[in-house]
Amino acid sequence: MPQTLPRTVLASLVLPVIRLLQFVHVPLSRSASTLRRTWRHLSVFHYKLVYEGSPDDLFVVTYPKSGTTWLQMIVYQITTDGAMDFAHIDEVSPHLEETLVPSGRKISDLQGTPRVVKSHLSYRGIPKGAGRYIYGIRNGLDVAVSYHHHHRKYIPGRNRQPLDAFFYQFLAGDVVYGSWFEHVSDWLRNADRLNVLVVSYEELSADLEAGVRRIADFCGITIDPAAMPRILERCSFAFMREHEAKFSLEGRAVGSPGAATRFIRQGKVGGWKQVLDAPIVSEFLEACHRRLRDVGDDTFRTLSGQVAGPRGPAR
Ligand code: A3P
Repeated sequence: MPQTLPRTVLASLVLPVIRLLQFVHVPLSRSASTLRRTWRHLSVFHYKLVYEGSPDDLFVVTYPKSGTTWLQMIVYQITTDGAMDFAHIDEVSPHLEETLVPSGRKISDLQGTPRVVKSHLSYRGIPKGAGRYIYGIRNGLDVAVSYHHHHRKYIPGRNRQPLDAFFYQFLAGDVVYGSWFEHVSDWLRNADRLNVLVVSYEELSADLEAGVRRIADFCGITIDPAAMPRILERCSFAFMREHEAKFSLEGRAVGSPGAATRFIRQGKVGGWKQVLDAPIVSEFLEACHRRLRDVGDDTFRTLSGQVAGPRGPAR
């Protein structure tokens, strides 16, 4: 088809550069982190160019720490009527940029209907097609606090920072997946260009069953009423925490003294109120007013942390 020609041509131009970078950065090891980053970016870009979208593909996309694993589990539960047949959740919904891209595995090689992948890619970076996209959002203050714990546990070189210093880096977008503001506003602004369902962490916390039903409807799945109690139990914080090894990134933990945090950590809406000071919060709110102007009032309230949790605001 004529309109696919430029994509194909671009993909064939990018591929030799990816191969060269892969060949070069491995022997250069640590000093080659810029080359490695470039290789990764180009590989993700190439993956997007050659992606042949299918209506059977289901993407669970979030900015990190927005409840990605919870959404992966909900999708797994509703597509299996409440099974637990995996050693790790990434087997049944692999991470696109961390697992599929480096291994060269295509989405069309995955088992299951729908074929589920997880991603933290921006709207611009995500492979686009006729499939479904669940975009998970969470208030930025809880995201930042959760991400701080994540950096302390899993990101080498970033694991000794106090929360305040980390928070200013988060505001500036100087964290692993870049600016939360950009990620969220780009996805929400462009959501009607793809088949996107936006789900918030806060709505799942307030009424998990309603959230599970909304996701099932979007996926065209009818839940067996007999399976619903099991599904809800398995998607609960308590159950997922008890089975944390199936969800966590323990293999990647770099750990540091004082970073004995858990992957399924606190699971609260408004937990930030216990740890963030007023000046930091007002800088965040000011940034929300500047950068999330066009997301709609309800979504703005959610993202800016003005929605209290089901147990009331945390103190
Ligand atoms: P906290 O660190 O605030 O506890 P992600 O999967 O995107 O990395 O998000 C991780 C966050 O989701 C963590 O938040 C984790 O505790 C929370 N989470 C995971 N499963 C959950 C569940 N079943 N219920 C509520 N929160 C959950």
